[in-house]
Amino acid sequence: VTQAPVVTPISSPPAGEMGRGPWPRTARAGGTGVVSVGGVALRQIAAEYGTPAYVLDEQDVRQECRAYLAAFPGGEVAYAGKAFLCRSMARWVDEEGLSLDVCSAGELSVAASVGFPPEKLILHGNAKTPDDMHAALEYRVGRIVIDSLSEISRLAAQVPQRQRVLLRVTPGVDAHTHAALTTGIDNQKFGISMADGAAADAVRRIVAQPCLDLVGLHCHIGSQITVPDGHELAARRLTGLMAAIRDEHGITLGQLNLGGGLGVAYADGDPELDLPAFARRLRAAVDRECAALRLPVPRITVEPGRAIVARAGVTLYRVISVKHRPDGHVFVAVDGGMSDNPRPSLYGASYTVRVVGRPAGSASQPATVAGRHCEAGDILARDVPLPVDIRPGDLLVTACTGAYHHSMAANYNMVGRPPVIAVRDGHARVLVRRETDADLRRRDVGM
Ligand SMILES: Cc1ncc(COP(=O)(O)O)c(C=O)c1O
Repeated sequence: VTQAPVVTPISSPPAGEMGRGPWPRTARAGGTGVVSVGGVALRQIAAEYGTPAYVLDEQDVRQECRAYLAAFPGGEVAYAGKAFLCRSMARWVDEEGLSLDVCSAGELSVAASVGFPPEKLILHGNAKTPDDMHAALEYRVGRIVIDSLSEISRLAAQVPQRQRVLLRVTPGVDAHTHAALTTGIDNQKFGISMADGAAADAVRRIVAQPCLDLVGLHCHIGSQITVPDGHELAARRLTGLMAAIRDEHGITLGQLNLGGGLGVAYADGDPELDLPAFARRLRAAVDRECAALRLPVPRITVEPGRAIVARAGVTLYRVISVKHRPDGHVFVAVDGGMSDNPRPSLYGASYTVRVVGRPAGSASQPATVAGRHCEAGDILARDVPLPVDIRPGDLLVTACTGAYHHSMAANYNMVGRPPVIAVRDGHARVLVRRETDADLRRRDVGM
């Protein structure tokens, strides 16, 4: 059955600011669609650095860091480096006063290379390798988050001096997010269960090791969460465990790390997290619970990754081919795909895509933006409105690609990873250069 394509006029974006939505704060629209970020024309970035390219708005990252610090007065904000990490990013979060959560010797080496204060580093990981552990102890990271029983004796055997640790527990809270992002329930790989007494057992084992200094509890219930109920419940349960630890061991833990997982809008109209209200609810829940249990109020740590960097980033793609299928479907294939953005195939994530610099007022039709890779599932966005006369050579911009894009990028089909270009006050600079064919061949050492 051949269906007539649905054609609607493109609503011209308002001139000037685009509103927050999924876009960086400095994104600007004109009569010609999205035109600039950080005061730099997207066309100019594409011309100078090629496509695909990740573009990162430094000012937006810094403002988000400040918003999180303001929402948790007296608390600690540790940026989760897994979302996106490079030397400049580590420097920015340090300059803004955040701590840093790292998950591997590799992430730690980036932090160390810019002299990130060791006491502000937190090492995570459900399967920390000997290299991860060695790197963390050598750099003297402030805290190591113990994630399994076996890690306790392993760590105790290795530490050269008394090491501060947190215990990651699973509070049995379902954050009702994507299954791959749900980490607060018992039936998944992270942390130690509170429900079956394993967490209490872990505490006993840690306390029995004089070289380990248990300073707090940690949990992370999931990602892309916009309502505080799950974090609030987790905070109450962890506070209860703190009271039990005080009663059994006479130890008052000073740190309550509630993880990250705070969500952002990936598309116009997505639910928005009200950060000040979210933070107030968490703080109030901890205060109330501590008062009831006669426990000193611990310092709250949050570990936002996505919320700090996702909306600061956009990705530029060049249209390579356009196919109009007999059933009316339009496939717009671009020069990137699942290698630079695996999230649609991993989680079914949806994205906002706009054409860069087309005259306003032209008609649009729903199109599927496909990647260049040899998988039918390599789709970046479905049913996004694009001009009816979209053609090879056009430039597309995808919003909200600052988190879990570059850090999750791969080399499928031997495609090099895109560069990361920072923009600020009208200037662009390369943070991470494009990966070349020579880079890829350099690892191929057999013959
Ligand atoms: C322990 C921990 N902290 C923080 C985060 C950051 O999560 P998000 O980027 O959703 O804020 C994660 C994500 O997996 C995590 O596992």
